[in-house]
Amino acid sequence: MDHKSFINSLIFEYVNASEVERAFQLELEGFPPEEAFTLERYTYIQKAAPTLLLGAYLSDSSSTSSSKLLIGFIMATLADAPKFTKESMSYHNPFGKTVCIHTVCVDKLYQRRGVALYMLKEYIKRLKNESQNKDVDSKYERIALISHKHLIPLYQKAGFILKGESEIVYGNEQWLDFEFQANWTNYLLCLVN
Ligand SMILES: CC(C)(COP(=O)(O)OP(=O)(O)OC[C@H]1O[C@@H](n2cnc3c(N)ncnc32)[C@H](O)[C@@H]1OP(=O)(O)O)[C@@H](O)C(=O)NCCC(=O)NCCS
Repeated sequence: MDHKSFINSLIFEYVNASEVERAFQLELEGFPPEEAFTLERYTYIQKAAPTLLLGAYLSDSSSTSSSKLLIGFIMATLADAPKFTKESMSYHNPFGKTVCIHTVCVDKLYQRRGVALYMLKEYIKRLKNESQNKDVDSKYERIALISHKHLIPLYQKAGFILKGESEIVYGNEQWLDFEFQANWTNYLLCLVN
């Protein structure tokens, strides 16, 4: 299957409670142990913020039933603070206006095929639609995330702006702050790139 057909074959759905363990498994395979979240954290976020845990699925054509395999996901919570903080890592504030992305993860077997970038664009599109249906007072104001230096191109391609070094100390490597301004104008730019 060529690159474009593979990407177009992906199905996006919110990860349900029965799939949280599969998402957690992908996290364990993708992150060093000192950076990985716990299964409890996954279960909490799926329950507290189900529309902030989006999965990318491959439909399993070898099966006669309509089964699908989770191959990547993005997980976030809401927070008040304008950037990623220690508090926003552990607590979902349903009234928060900053969408804090904790995890972007793709199954090792499917990396470097554009899945993460496509997922980020789909995620942003959904947040934009959700935000447009909210009251003026509760619209999302920004998306924040932290990442290591080698992934700067990924997040810039998705429309995020590098803000500088993060205050977060988690694991052994320096984290960088990224922000996507949710006035949604740069969203259109990131879609065409
Ligand atoms: C980081 C991760 C999500 C990327 O997923 P992916 O589906 O392979 O990424 P994409 O194929 O969409 O990459 C798009 C672009 O981002 C950049 N990129 C992606 N992974 C990269 C890497 N490991 N190193 C450098 N640049 C990378 C490249 O510019 C890439 O474009 P290219 O392949 O044409 O060069 C995946 O490697 C992963 O799950 N890693 C383990 C968990 C992790 O570190 N998550 C990020 C936490 S902030």
